[in-house]
Amino acid sequence: MTTAPAIGQPTDRVDGRHKVTGGAHYSADIHLDNLAYAVLVGARVPSGRITHIDTTEAMDARGVFAILTHENLPRIAAQPPLIPSLAGMPAPGQTFFPLQDEVVYYTGQPVALVVADTLERAQHAAALVRVGYEETPSVTTLDQGRDQAYEPEAIFAGFIPGRNQRGDVEAGLAQADVRIDAAYTYAANNHNPIEPSATTAAWDGDQLTLYDATQGVAATQLTVAALLGLTPSKVRVLSHFVGGSFGCKAMIWAHPALAALASRMTGCPVRLTLTREQMFTSVGHREEQEQRITLGATTQGRLTALRHHKLSPTSHFDDWAEPSLGVAGQIYACPNYEGVYRLIRANTMTPTFMRAPGEASGMFALECAMDDLARQLGIDPIELRLRNYTDTDPNTGNPWSSTGLKECYQRGAERFGWQRRNPEPRSHRDGHWLIGYGMATAGYPVYGPNNPQRARARLYADGTAVVQAATPDFGTGVATVMTQVAADALGLPVERCRFEGGDTALPTIASAVGSSGSGMISAAVHTAATNLRDQLVAQAVGDAQSPLHGADPSTVVVRDGRMTLRDQPSIGESYGDLLHRNFLPDVEAAGAWSPSQSVNNYGMMTFGAQFAEVAVDPGLGLARVRRMVGAFAPGRVLNTKTARSQLTGGMLWGLGQALLEANYMDARRGRWVASSLGDYLVPVNADAPEVDIELIEVEDKIVNPLGVKGVGEVGQVGAAAAIANAIHHATGRRIRKMPITIEDLL
Ligand code: MOS
Repeated sequence: MTTAPAIGQPTDRVDGRHKVTGGAHYSADIHLDNLAYAVLVGARVPSGRITHIDTTEAMDARGVFAILTHENLPRIAAQPPLIPSLAGMPAPGQTFFPLQDEVVYYTGQPVALVVADTLERAQHAAALVRVGYEETPSVTTLDQGRDQAYEPEAIFAGFIPGRNQRGDVEAGLAQADVRIDAAYTYAANNHNPIEPSATTAAWDGDQLTLYDATQGVAATQLTVAALLGLTPSKVRVLSHFVGGSFGCKAMIWAHPALAALASRMTGCPVRLTLTREQMFTSVGHREEQEQRITLGATTQGRLTALRHHKLSPTSHFDDWAEPSLGVAGQIYACPNYEGVYRLIRANTMTPTFMRAPGEASGMFALECAMDDLARQLGIDPIELRLRNYTDTDPNTGNPWSSTGLKECYQRGAERFGWQRRNPEPRSHRDGHWLIGYGMATAGYPVYGPNNPQRARARLYADGTAVVQAATPDFGTGVATVMTQVAADALGLPVERCRFEGGDTALPTIASAVGSSGSGMISAAVHTAATNLRDQLVAQAVGDAQSPLHGADPSTVVVRDGRMTLRDQPSIGESYGDLLHRNFLPDVEAAGAWSPSQSVNNYGMMTFGAQFAEVAVDPGLGLARVRRMVGAFAPGRVLNTKTARSQLTGGMLWGLGQALLEANYMDARRGRWVASSLGDYLVPVNADAPEVDIELIEVEDKIVNPLGVKGVGEVGQVGAAAAIANAIHHATGRRIRKMPITIEDLL
């Protein structure tokens, strides 16, 4: 029997066997009788209007039930606003719903939805829908729109101001002994989870059930309810398995509501699966961008000023930019700061969250600039960062709830062998390969929800427990770690606990976004399970037949499902004995958690340090990453295996950003050049170096009951900068773009 705490163990995934044996049913695997298949037809032009749609031939094709276009689709009830909190409110990905009129804003915008009895027949009929367009001039790239850039009042639909300042940046630059000023360019990125987005919709009378690939079932429920004018209680959303997301299943795009509408129109359950190609124009993207950083510093390396500007295209309907200026403006002590977002209206959909949304791109610029500053001042890059270390959030002056950053630098440097680095560029070689070492700081905010997170725990008389909360597990391991959290709170072995999630019928949890999932869900599960344990102990001490009768509940401990006196372990009884004696088949408790008000008195950030060794072949322009080392201080680690997996994935994503990931707009046609996994490059095993991770546990009593700060995204932040800095060290060349490609290195 397990007696050690379950939390912190490298427990295998509870859903692992299902996932590798075909037992996992994803949203497009749900079998329903009379299921019909829907296929989207996307606009072929980036801007203009539909002059005519001819569906005659398509309607005559075999098996076709219906074709939805703006000419026959009922208008939506209401377009919910863009709310990025995703907590208790609808979360549309953009404030534009297609198939409402003839206007085209972006290539790929849905202009028809074909529903047929098989997928193949729907695909065939979709090819027969004839759409005529009157094309108007478009802007689809940053360069095309540069002259019309505007400064938005706010980005993220009002949640982040367009301009953030502290001190006087001009005065800070005037005081500086040295300045660094440089621009950085970034290609657009697209999410490519293994599972493309999919929704299976079914009506039973006026009750709608959606099986949807989502990061938050409540977000899908509330968004579809608002769009269709339904009360949320009439919409149930299930999401038992989700094959990755990285942010593209955080906001709720048009396809779940379209599936529901198609199902209502045809009277059949309808499945709508986006194709891989449609994933590039249907679920947001990380926007193309330019950033400019100006640093001022003393000869001692102390920052006196930081100016950080960003320019990026957004859609015609929303002021969206990934918040690249956030962490980069907070991670170092610098009294004078100015961050400004500028946007361009473009013929694309609204960009969206994509893993480490903004933090990764912003820290790429800042950490490359810091590396240049270190070189210019002749200060070791780690030493430079230590000289600008801050114990407080520079935006507010509030202390960090916990840090661990200095330990991350120290332990990371030791593991990496930073001491061996000769600071002179081009000083390390391996045959014809130029070898470089680079490092960067990592940071990712700790977000808390702004509404209560709920869970429920039930113990059966046989001594097994189930804990429930609405959250899906979209590949992070949340179901596994919540089983561990419940086991410890209940005093049960992990094998006797089970987690159920992914269903709006269960207690409400906000969407798992911004690396907040493990912190907020563990808080809810811990609270519910602790309430249940306390309830059982109270029942025992109040039960005249219990050996614990009359004991002070605070002196009772539970291990292996047995309640005993802490100081006299021989006195006690099992949960099962208590329940059997009292004819109770089960006992249940609910729990809710909200962050305390005191979080407002702290800065909250997960910190880390990234190190990379690269080898560059100057003749071929090849850059290979040979080693990556990351040291992270994510508060409490719930499961060392799933935490390492998250961080490894993040670091390798950083490698992808540094060297591979890119999409470019063909401005003539307003289309993404890459629209498949064949031409959108992500790192594969052959690209992946050894990734070495150190987890530094720091106690944090502020963020949530278990002190969990999250590991979902911090692994990516700084990883690309460490690689770019290593390339500089290897070659002496500073390449200020993402990704750095062969032609940059020749
Ligand atoms: Mo994450 S990119 O905030 O879903």
